Amino acid sequence: MSDQSNHQARPPPTAIAARLAMAYIASQAVNVAIKLGLADLLGKGAMTSGEIAQATGTQADMMHRLLRGLAAFDVVKDLGSGKFELTPVGDCLRADAPNSVRSLVRMVGSENWWQAFASLDECIKTGQNAYRILHGLESSFAYYEKHPDAARIFDDAMSANSALVGAIAAQAYDFAGIGRVVDVGGGQGKVLASILKAHPNLRGTLFDLPRVAEGASAFLAKEGVADRCEALGGDMFVSVPGGGDLYLLSHVIHDWDDQHATKALQACRRAMVPTAKLLILDRVMPERIEPNPMTQGNVLLDLRMMVGTAGGRERTTAEFETLLSDAGLRLSRVIRRGRRSASWKRYRRNACSGRMRTTAAGDAAAPHQAQKRGRASSFCQPLCAFFQACAAWALCQPST
Ligand SMILES: C[S@@+](CC[C@H](N)C(=O)[O-])C[C@H]1O[C@@H](n2cnc3c(N)ncnc32)[C@H](O)[C@@H]1O
Repeated sequence: MSDQSNHQARPPPTAIAARLAMAYIASQAVNVAIKLGLADLLGKGAMTSGEIAQATGTQADMMHRLLRGLAAFDVVKDLGSGKFELTPVGDCLRADAPNSVRSLVRMVGSENWWQAFASLDECIKTGQNAYRILHGLESSFAYYEKHPDAARIFDDAMSANSALVGAIAAQAYDFAGIGRVVDVGGGQGKVLASILKAHPNLRGTLFDLPRVAEGASAFLAKEGVADRCEALGGDMFVSVPGGGDLYLLSHVIHDWDDQHATKALQACRRAMVPTAKLLILDRVMPERIEPNPMTQGNVLLDLRMMVGTAGGRERTTAEFETLLSDAGLRLSRVIRRGRRSASWKRYRRNACSGRMRTTAAGDAAAPHQAQKRGRASSFCQPLCAFFQACAAWALCQPST
């Protein structure tokens, strides 16, 4: 596509600003579609709005207007015969779709997230997170302890994300020479189980708070990796298990302020032998922000960390380097994923013109990842951009 046609295709700035302002209406339409089970219903075949209204106990005229809204955003297709069918975007909202983002959409659309972002201005004025302002609690994690229904929605979303991260990490990182992976803050074990299943010679140690580690044992057994993986409980701010060749921190460091993040890294450093490595799976914020989908995913997640945690944030390479150096570690490599390669641009063009279904290939840092990137980056779809597994991974080694 020439520069000129690109220019012509771009909406005027006023339209872009208005669309941005109204984005929450589209977000709520998608969330309601999920609440009413529209994607699962339409997954069985095209239906009229009347049929969908009857099946969901809703008003036919209003359902028709919701479906028109969803059609305008490429979630469903208006067949022109009175029927609507799912598009590929709508398809990944189904509960049982491979790589379903249903639980992620539910979490982002959940009441406590809406309330938290309604307090964004207060957060910025006071420096407090929204859960402190609204509920007098330390963070969203404390809120979930008190609200099991909200916690379930959050846990489901995290599990879906971990499944994506695990699958990508298992393929994109070269585990050659690694005997044991210690997964610090490993949660239920989805990331570690994916890695162990893909690499039958690896052994693992899952480490998390005692309550979480207990639950993880059952999951690791269900995944058939319990004979190669132990689950240990403890506090990563105090100490972490020894014996690892690779220490993994997947979506852990970004939950914490610098002081806590350094403490956890220091505990890892103390447990590491000189040849051990540490792999952080988190987004890496670019030093200079440009308006592309990957960066938008980074900043949206960073804003969520701002309203939801006590000091958590997405960090730049320089910020990671400082943290790591304070913990006696040296950043040896940043493994970038999902940069705007030629195929990403092609994908975006096709997606925008309705010819989507292809996947984007991420740029990879090493030949090993280059071989794998076609498969590993198949999650780079616009709806997933917010949670698309990792913009970059930081590989670190002891500095002394
Ligand atoms: C966002 S989750 C990430 C889970 C998993 N690594 C993943 O990527 O799916 C953060 C994890 O850190 C764990 N965690 C929080 N505080 C901890 C502590 N003091 N010691 C060990 N784990 C902790 C939580 O229980 C949770 O499982």
